[in-house]
Amino acid sequence: MVSAPSFHSDSAKPTVAVIGAGVIGLSIAWRLAAAGCRVEVFDRGAAGRGASHAAGGMLAACVETEPGEESLLPLTRASQDLWPAFAAALEAASGMAVDLRTEGTMVIALNADDAAKVRFLHDFQTKLGLPVEWLSGAEVRRREPYLQPGVAGALFCAGDHQVDNRKVAAALHTAALRAGAAVHEYAEVGRIEIRGGRAVGVQVGDRLFEADRVVLAAGAWSGWIDGLSPAVRPPVRPVKGQMLCLRMDARLPLLRHVVWTPGTYLIPRLDGRLLVGATTEERGFDDRLTAGGQFALLEGAWRALPGIAELPIEEAWAGFRPGTRDDAPILGLSEVEGLVYATGHHRNGILLTPVTADSVARLVLTGESDPVIRPFALDRFAQPKGAAA
Ligand code: FAD
Ligand code: GLY
Repeated sequence: MVSAPSFHSDSAKPTVAVIGAGVIGLSIAWRLAAAGCRVEVFDRGAAGRGASHAAGGMLAACVETEPGEESLLPLTRASQDLWPAFAAALEAASGMAVDLRTEGTMVIALNADDAAKVRFLHDFQTKLGLPVEWLSGAEVRRREPYLQPGVAGALFCAGDHQVDNRKVAAALHTAALRAGAAVHEYAEVGRIEIRGGRAVGVQVGDRLFEADRVVLAAGAWSGWIDGLSPAVRPPVRPVKGQMLCLRMDARLPLLRHVVWTPGTYLIPRLDGRLLVGATTEERGFDDRLTAGGQFALLEGAWRALPGIAELPIEEAWAGFRPGTRDDAPILGLSEVEGLVYATGHHRNGILLTPVTADSVARLVLTGESDPVIRPFALDRFAQPKGAAA
């Protein structure tokens, strides 16, 4: 193995190798490069083409909160609050739009059975202090006239917004480059190099790129990189999601809000695309589209918005959410000195990008762990001493 000569710096700021150029790796790289660190990002493919490309871009801290997920709420709400300023700073730094839309999100009930379930969710979220309100069927139809005429009511959250996640990834790539980071595409990290209990760099092909800190942000693939013992390997698995995209007339869109309906959500983009998502499947890294998955999405969307029957299908795809056992991310320092985790963002990685970028960059720069990320350290999964393996 040969050492790449260019990377180690004499500056007081740490040199950083980031594994993964999704929204998480790129946003951390942008922040660190802007703070004066020498940063090199490595991706096995093109930047921003993993889950960050496949996602819906919903910033749904409220409506996606279900029983059992309360502990994630301080993190998701903190990031939601950061999004408007983050989007503005990113647009300024990159010169590219990210299409933050602020119409809010509805969870609609199509019949009495649905209404009972959505009412339950509304009560649960209200008790948590989330800013949700109940809309009558007539009010839902007033706001979204093309929804099915029998719609029974909806939970509405004015604060749950959306961005175009593909534009966010592209803007982060540009912002990171402009801040001075190097982004190596088609450069797979085969191994995290550890010497004397310390991460000293990453191996790409037969080259070792040395670094003071290694940030592991490889999304659903984070547990598959060599060099880490089982105890420090993040337990992240791929959770497959299929989606598709229809083409509306951008001047006469069928929908303005993000709308959730049983089993499906609909996301109207400013350019006239209408995203329909998403399945949740445990299929490993099998990225094939299935008839059942696509049928379920189209049927769910059509029940809510019958006018989609006339729309052309523009694209269909599958991606892999980086899932963990408790559906929360893994953020913070490792037992391996110099190694930092920023992975496992599951269904919320776009929402959680600003808080992850800020807190992980701060951790790398100062060694201080922001209180909001402390509950999400890897050691929460450690087996109690004496427990059976
Ligand atoms: P990724 O974007 O997957 O990036 C990881 C990168 O690491 C990839 O580019 C990959 O090529 C690279 N990599 C892997 N292994 C290596 C290696 N050995 N060496 C170098 N590079 C490597 N979140 C929301 O907040 N809102 C949503 O509406 C939403 N909708 C979603 C819908 C679907 C269908 C899916 C699949 C996900 C959705 N998510 C959503 C979740 C969100 O997409 C993810 O949580 C987020 O994109 C994770 O970002 P990431 O940068 O960690 O991972
Ligand atoms: N957050 C939406 C999804 O993961 O499908």
